Formats: sequence, structure tokens, C-alpha cells
Amino acid sequence: MKVVVAGANGLLGHEVARVCAGCGDEVIETDLVQDFRRLDITDKDAVQNFLEREKPSWLVNCAAYTDVDGCEEREDLAFLLNAKAPGYLAQACSKSGTRLLHISTDYVFDGEKADPYTEEDPTNPLSVYGKSKLAGEEAIRSGTEEYIIVRPQWLFGPHGKNFVSTILGIARERASINVVNDQKGSPTYSKDLARAIRALIDSDAQGIFHVCNRGRASWYDLAKKAIELTELETEVVPVSTSEFVRPAPRPKNSILSTKKFTRITEKLMPMWQISLQLYIKEYLFELRNTGQA
Ligand SMILES: NC(=O)c1ccc[n+]([C@@H]2O[C@H](COP(=O)([O-])OP(=O)(O)OC[C@H]3O[C@@H](n4cnc5c(N)ncnc54)[C@H](OP(=O)(O)O)[C@@H]3O)[C@@H](O)[C@H]2O)c1
Repeated sequence: MKVVVAGANGLLGHEVARVCAGCGDEVIETDLVQDFRRLDITDKDAVQNFLEREKPSWLVNCAAYTDVDGCEEREDLAFLLNAKAPGYLAQACSKSGTRLLHISTDYVFDGEKADPYTEEDPTNPLSVYGKSKLAGEEAIRSGTEEYIIVRPQWLFGPHGKNFVSTILGIARERASINVVNDQKGSPTYSKDLARAIRALIDSDAQGIFHVCNRGRASWYDLAKKAIELTELETEVVPVSTSEFVRPAPRPKNSILSTKKFTRITEKLMPMWQISLQLYIKEYLFELRNTGQA
């Protein structure tokens, strides 16, 4: 099966391309940088021509404007990349007979629900990023009938910058670090998510799916565990969101229910603590290999 991955140089796109290739798919990795087939998802004609020419079975869209705080200042860019471009992809997929799997986010919710969010819960994004991603979901739904939208959260993994690698970078230089303790979510390993995405493709599913690792954590819990596993001595100090003001508001509780994913694929997502251990091993190996440890 031929699969095009858009945003293949990103944290998630990189793993999706690896997992699909491992399943024997013919994978076309696209992004904006050299070493990838160029596909700018904001270029409507380029997207249309690319899919007409390649006629893949699936397009997995991992490309997005993912700088949550940056989106507050660059609203036009956020909506171009996260809302308009997915619409171009959806329309082109519909014309070329390609199925589309698009990645959205837990930030489409306001985080006020005490229980895990299901796919049927009403959305109410707080930030420009969340609003632009929600508009992207709507553009997908009106552009094509053959789509899957995956809402993941709190990604960490080896290819690119993420919360865990950022925290560990800071922890190696400082004796103490403040981390927010009143936002809850499920930290999710990009490799687990990529495997889950491939399972959804195999399952012939349609519609919206929440996918994240099992278990809950605050950013503080995640930072503390990562620092512990790296055997750093840095003290992690819990602080509240109000003490750590950032441009974009974040949901307080964006725990996602993955029951629908498990029902359709018969797969259970791993616990985040187990997956974090695997990632930290890779992280330390990479540090040693590059002479940084
Ligand atoms: N990371 C998280 O914690 C998280 C949580 C929930 C949902 N998500 C969603 O998961 C998806 C993947 O996130 P990620 O963290 O893997 O993102 P990422 O690492 O930022 O990767 C996005 C990729 O898209 C590329 N890109 C940017 N503009 C493009 C364009 N016009 N055409 C084609 N490619 C373009 C980026 O290139 P440049 O780097 O050169 O800009 C980058 O390689 C996104 O939809 C994101 O909203 C992420």
C-alpha cells in the first residue's frame, strides 16, 4: 500500500513513516526541507497535483504549526497551516480517491471536565492553536468522507524537540526547576502513537479517535519521572499555572478516553511510565553517541 506522510521531518511524522515502512508500505515522506519530497501543504495546487500524480491509498497529515504560544501572535499562520491546509488536503484526497488520516489535538477541549473526554464531548478550545486545530477538523469533515481524525496529546519522542527533552536539557544545567502541577494529561510516546495510527489504518475505521498512552500525569509528574530516570539530581518544584504565565491558555484537565480506539483496534495503549523509560534509554544512548554525556 502506498502511504504519503506529510510533515515527515516532525516528531510524529518521522515515526509514522518508520512504522508504515516496517509494515511493508511504500512510504513517500514529504516535508519542506531537503532530503524529503517537497510538499507544502498550504499550496493548494501543489497538493492537488501531488496526489493526482502519486495516487496513494493513504495520506497521513502530521504537518502543522505546533508552536502553541507562537500561534497566539501569528494567528494568520496558525489558521493557514492548521485549518486551511487540512481543507486543501481533504479536497485533494477526495478527488484522487485517497483516504486521509489527520492529526488534531486535545487542545480542542477547555479542560473543565473532570472525567476523560470522549470523542462525542463538546469542544471549546481556549487558545488560537486549539481554535485553528478545531477549524482544521471541520475543514477535513467538509472536504472528504473518507477520513480519520486522531486527537493525541503531550507527545514525547526522539525526533525533534518536546517537553521531556527540553526539561532534561534545562535540568542538566540547573540545580532546581519549576514545573506546572495543575494541568493533567497523558504523556504519549510518538512511537506508540505511530503504531496506533497504523492500527487505525488497518482497522478500516472512520471518524474521530482519541489516542494517548494510558495513565495520568501533570507536567510536574512527567518532569520528575524523566529526571529520576536520567539520574539527575535536579530538584523539581511544583508550581501552579498562575505562577507560570504563558501567552496561550492551556486546558486544566485534558485526559482523553481511548475506549473507542481500543474497541475498534482491539489494542491497548501502553502506560506512559513504561514508554518514558524506553524513550529515556534512547535519549541517553543518543547523548553518549554524540559525546554529550
Ligand atoms: N507535540 C505534541 O505534544 C502534540 C500534542 C497534540 C497534538 N499534536 C499534533 O500532532 C501533529 C504532529 O505534531 P509534532 O509535534 O510531530 O509536530 P512537529 O514536530 O512540529 O512537526 C510538524 C512538521 O510539519 C512541517 N511543516 C510545517 N509547515 C509545513 C508546510 N507548510 N508543509 C509541509 N510541512 C510543514 C514542520 O516543518 P518545520 O519544522 O520546518 O516547520 C515539521 O517537520 C500536529 O498536528 C500537532 O498539532 C502534537
